[in-house]
Amino acid sequence: MDTIQFAVAAAVHAPSVHNTQPWRFGVGERHIDVFADAGRRLRVADPDGRELMISCGAALFTLRVALRYLGWLPHARLFPDSSRPALVARVSWDEDRIAADPYEREMYAAVTARHTHRGGFGAAPLPAGTIAALREEAAREGAMLRLVAAGDQRDALAAAVQAGEHALRLDGNRAAELADWVVAPDSPRRDGIPPAAYPAEPAHTEPDFPGRDFAAGKGWGLAAPAAGERSPGAVCLLATSANEPADWVAAGQALQRVLLRAAACGVAAALHSQPLELPQLRDFIRVQLAARAHPQMIIRLGVTGQAGADTGSVRRPLGEVLL
Ligand SMILES: Cc1cc2nc3c(=O)[nH]c(=O)nc-3n(C[C@H](O)[C@H](O)[C@H](O)COP(=O)(O)O)c2cc1C
Repeated sequence: MDTIQFAVAAAVHAPSVHNTQPWRFGVGERHIDVFADAGRRLRVADPDGRELMISCGAALFTLRVALRYLGWLPHARLFPDSSRPALVARVSWDEDRIAADPYEREMYAAVTARHTHRGGFGAAPLPAGTIAALREEAAREGAMLRLVAAGDQRDALAAAVQAGEHALRLDGNRAAELADWVVAPDSPRRDGIPPAAYPAEPAHTEPDFPGRDFAAGKGWGLAAPAAGERSPGAVCLLATSANEPADWVAAGQALQRVLLRAAACGVAAALHSQPLELPQLRDFIRVQLAARAHPQMIIRLGVTGQAGADTGSVRRPLGEVLL
């Protein structure tokens, strides 16, 4: 496999909203272009393309990780052509190689090992120093990872996720859009959320950070996990100081950097974007819980006995994403 195929094969493992995989890759002699695929944007939930750009940012970071694994030194230019707003980034690399170090090899190994956790965590604390390390990873991509303190702040954020989840269920257009990305058992589809990736009944934590109701009463999904995993884990907000498309791409790169480092440390992550898709709730979180920085993702981090169990996520083949 050549450099470009190797790097794109890794990049498609990035997380994306509802596993929409809203990206395409253009190839040149010594560069790869990352394009946003607007046809895969969530028209109701994501009118501005914020979640689309976060997803593309995550794919961009994964490309960089794969290139480093091969020893190349990647350079990414965001939005290099103002007349082509779908061209999110051009990644090129120097002619010389420098072998990947152990940290870079671990980040690459986490690309396929990582997956989104949907549920609570056991009582075990995170390995010492995890939050400080992840905060640094986010900062390296120009984003902030804030730990939300247990007590009033965490309860208020849980209440915002609950309100968001209820509001999404009440809105028929949003519920229909979500249903479009929930894949039936035995479907040959290679995008969307398959039943092996979520519990049949949304899991509950204390305080409750409800998951999205992918099953929606159809009976699809995994059997309930063993009782006892009720902790929300370490609840964090990923935020940026501004809220333009380049900030969303930065948030996506930071998100994947945090998720890969966490996975490399044996820490699982659950993601919640429900309240961030609703302007009033998003603004409440920004003002009350994020010191007026722009919240881009709610991330719960923890240790789970389920690690490696729900590996049901699927991806489209390279032929569909390589231009
Ligand atoms: C912008 C964004 C928003 C997301 N929001 C949620 C969410 O609200 N709930 C959830 O369970 N997963 C969420 N995810 C995770 C995706 O569903 C997940 O990345 C995708 O299904 C692929 O699965 P994987 O991460 O296990 O590879 C989000 C991911 C991104 C990038």
